[in-house]
Amino acid sequence: MRLTTLAAGTVGLGLGVAAYASLVERNWYRLRRVVVPVLDPGTAPLRVLHLSDLHMTPSQARKQRWVSALASLEPDLVVVTGDNLAHVCAVPAVLRAFEPLFAYPGAFVFGSNDYFGPVLKNPLGYLRRDREHIEGPPLPTHDLRAGLLSAGWLELNNARGVLKAGGRVIELAGVDDPHIGRDRYVSAPLDPLADLHLGVTHSPEPRVLGPMTGDGLSLVLAGHTHGGQVCVPFYGALTTNCELPRRMARGLHRYGGAWLHVSAGLGTHPTAPARFACPPEATILTLVPRER
Ligand SMILES: [Fe+2]
Repeated sequence: MRLTTLAAGTVGLGLGVAAYASLVERNWYRLRRVVVPVLDPGTAPLRVLHLSDLHMTPSQARKQRWVSALASLEPDLVVVTGDNLAHVCAVPAVLRAFEPLFAYPGAFVFGSNDYFGPVLKNPLGYLRRDREHIEGPPLPTHDLRAGLLSAGWLELNNARGVLKAGGRVIELAGVDDPHIGRDRYVSAPLDPLADLHLGVTHSPEPRVLGPMTGDGLSLVLAGHTHGGQVCVPFYGALTTNCELPRRMARGLHRYGGAWLHVSAGLGTHPTAPARFACPPEATILTLVPRER
């Protein structure tokens, strides 16, 4: 084969992969189903819808409809692990997308992309752990918070709370985004009246996961990693964008005697609009009794 033919083939393949990643897979929203054996023996299942990293812009109508349609799952509880926004005008779009889900109990924490808008960055910078976080323009965080609170959802940014869902009393402990150093987790004894104890964080930083699982929270929900976003087939994520090991970039894992679920999220940063071998996702977690 002539060298020019090989070079042309390589460039063509690269362009094809780039087009697939930005035009097809980035918009190929999937619902992932996971079973977590975390409840007390003899109790009925509890269904938790985990949403993360929408990175919504006002024009993403298809994503908004897809999120709204998740209400047909009739979850017992909705948990949102942050990074909802990718535009200063996106709050109404996010609240519209969530509107049918407001019929169910919900809880949320914020990520950096609920506070600061996108700025142009070198996508390869994600592979460097020592890079600095660059703050974009401030976002209308207070409007997003007000909309979620007025729907009756529980804010868990450096906060704890108890809610009723699926006939159970659920204690939740959350932190504000560890990725930008806003986390202030305070250890506390478990509420003895609660049937289940959940931890919620945007970035699954081990410095937060350790104390949460050490306190006895039995399942921690997190986002932020985008599952690696651009993955290598049969190898996986190149980075988690935090201190979590690469093999835990998405999905359900054992962590410190508890369970950790990391959502690959539904969006991408607008300056890196591509996904490969890591489709955008929401997850329905069916919590079932532990094995005796
Ligand atoms: Fe994100």
